Amino acid sequence: MGHCRVKVHLRLRPSCRPSTAIHVDHAAHTIRIDVLKQHGGGPPKPYNDQMVFPFDSIIQSSCQEAVFEQCARQVVEDVLGGYNGTILTYGQTGSGKTFTMTGDTKAYAHRGIVPRAVERIFAEKVAKPEAGITVHVSYLEVYNEGIYDLLPQRRLASAVNLVAMEDNGLIEIKGLNKMHVNTEEEAMKYFFEGERHRSVAPHALNQMSSRSHCVFTMFVERHSGLRTLQEVTSSKLNLVDLAGSERLKRTEVGGTTKKEAMLINKSLSFLEQAVFALRQGLGHVPFRQSRLTTLLKDALGGNCKTVLIVCAWAEDFFLDETISALRFAQRVKYLKTSAVINKKADAANTQRRYVREISELKQELALRDALTGRPSISYDELTEETRSALRERIQAFLAEEAGIDSIPIENFKQVKELFCLFKEAQVSLRGELEKLLRDYGGGPDTFLNHSQHDVDINPGSEEADDEECVGELDKEGFHVGPVAPDNARPDLPTSPHAMLRAIRSPGLKYGEDTLLDYNKAPPAVAPPPNLWELDEDTRNEAFSEFKHTTDEGRTQDHELRTKTAELRLRKQTARELCTTVNDAKLEIANIKKVLDEQSKQSARVEFNNQGFDEQKYHLMQRFREARSAYQRGAQEFKEVKTDLELLQQEVRDCKQKLLESFFRWFEVKTQYKGDLQRLMTPLSPARIASPIGGPKP
Ligand SMILES: Nc1ncnc2c1ncn2[C@@H]1O[C@H](COP(=O)(O)OP(=O)(O)O)[C@@H](O)[C@H]1O
Ligand SMILES: [Mg+2]
Repeated sequence: MGHCRVKVHLRLRPSCRPSTAIHVDHAAHTIRIDVLKQHGGGPPKPYNDQMVFPFDSIIQSSCQEAVFEQCARQVVEDVLGGYNGTILTYGQTGSGKTFTMTGDTKAYAHRGIVPRAVERIFAEKVAKPEAGITVHVSYLEVYNEGIYDLLPQRRLASAVNLVAMEDNGLIEIKGLNKMHVNTEEEAMKYFFEGERHRSVAPHALNQMSSRSHCVFTMFVERHSGLRTLQEVTSSKLNLVDLAGSERLKRTEVGGTTKKEAMLINKSLSFLEQAVFALRQGLGHVPFRQSRLTTLLKDALGGNCKTVLIVCAWAEDFFLDETISALRFAQRVKYLKTSAVINKKADAANTQRRYVREISELKQELALRDALTGRPSISYDELTEETRSALRERIQAFLAEEAGIDSIPIENFKQVKELFCLFKEAQVSLRGELEKLLRDYGGGPDTFLNHSQHDVDINPGSEEADDEECVGELDKEGFHVGPVAPDNARPDLPTSPHAMLRAIRSPGLKYGEDTLLDYNKAPPAVAPPPNLWELDEDTRNEAFSEFKHTTDEGRTQDHELRTKTAELRLRKQTARELCTTVNDAKLEIANIKKVLDEQSKQSARVEFNNQGFDEQKYHLMQRFREARSAYQRGAQEFKEVKTDLELLQQEVRDCKQKLLESFFRWFEVKTQYKGDLQRLMTPLSPARIASPIGGPKP
């Protein structure tokens, strides 16, 4: 990107009363205003020094052609070379801006910059047909702070106020008609059509004074012309004829024309402010203050080569306006723009190049495959058969029926297809999961809370831990094990203990069976009263003797032990099932948490759903497994629980039977042998009436 200074030229309008204060040095391209001299006719001048204003060139008494050559030619050539260009005419009203830009229709030689630029561009188009130059033209005016199309396609009752917008760093007028023109005549036809629509009004200084700023634009597209280069340059030439600043007293206008003049002055003042800000290097340049500055943004500091032609009336009467215009020109003179050649790709040529490149690459691939012994690989579009074969392999892989090696990876097209098929599988699984969640009322939590699966399982519960053994406590109140407090039992003599220990059967291990007691509910059969006359150890000894020495006791004890062992096993199974089901429950809850988290993340970030979400897929698999484990476990637990209840009842029955038999045996034994009674100290009635911790016999 090259920075280039805005070129500023001065054109002095020929006058029959030239100012003696104005001195032009054509060699040095400067104009000096000698303000010390007194001038007749004009107001008193406050200036007290000579002022020298340098320009790129000063045109005085030159023909229109010379003006074009000196000021405009280079910009037009640059536009043909792909740069954007702007030529502006600036100055007080009647100073010759329109004459410079448009020219005079009275003589062909008086034609201005616009027709000459049009002529040059079409001359190039004709001279270089291989460049395929295409031209479009537009014509607009900024009138009373509105932008209007001077080439409307339809005559509208009220003109449409257009909007200037910045597009890709360049100012664009939305809705402005751009006419495609093939010839110079066609372009000029549109130009004159626009001229007819321009707002003009007569006043004291100009019979055809422009009441608006006008911009005629030529859009030029040019191909490189070389087959090897596929570039197209796209540039535009803005030819701007500004409305002139007016001293209302001098133009002697009123009404609408006065209002127009005020708005013109205002917009020119904004232009000066923008130029001032640019010249001072201020951070903010108020381009948006007016339509004119918005339109000229590129020309004053953007991607554009710009030329300003300041028109001045070199008479003493207009010295103030002239000095003011010269000052403005000096500020503009130091502005820099950054013009670049506007290239864009030629779609047709690019397509041709790609087709050629693809064909070359295909040949390259075929050669490489032949050399590496894979001549059968196809790079064409996959057929429906290939696609369904791949789908089957993916399904087998996902079902863990086949390994990753079963999925062929031969070329990029196939890999892309595999991704699509994985995505398809993922979508299907997601649908399945969502259906599942819907069926269970919204989510894994609801699923878990569903009544039909709701099993209150807790391995640490009282029931699960309440392991019953022979002679231990059962729930019916047959309490075996803990000893009743000392103060709650009868005060039995100690001597029978020794007696019973002495008569106990050989081989009977003392303490193998725990103490029988009646702390809770009574057994169905009342124990013999004399059993209570014995102390606890003695009673246990007697019970043990019954169980180990009598057939009936042995059988019943064995039966009880078998049932108890069975019960214990079932309880163990139930405990394991509890763990399984609770693990599954926990797993489902965890998966739910992760899925929720993922959904939240998806909501926050635009998640790219095009890719296969492997993690989600595994989560769903785990969810399915956990759900199956939960359902299976819950069902089994139900069955085991029923078994447990039956077994518990059977154990209770066995215990009952054993106790009844023991009581009978004890009664018979003590009745016929009588030695126990004899050994015992007779009990007081009070003691017999208050047995330990249970119902009185
Ligand atoms: N350099 C010039 N040579 C001859 N006639 C000129 C020149 N400059 C301006 N004029 C004439 O002066 C009149 C006003 O000029 P114009 O270009 O319309 O002024 P404005 O600056 O307001 O656009 C026109 O009739 C035009 O022909
Ligand atoms: Mg004009």
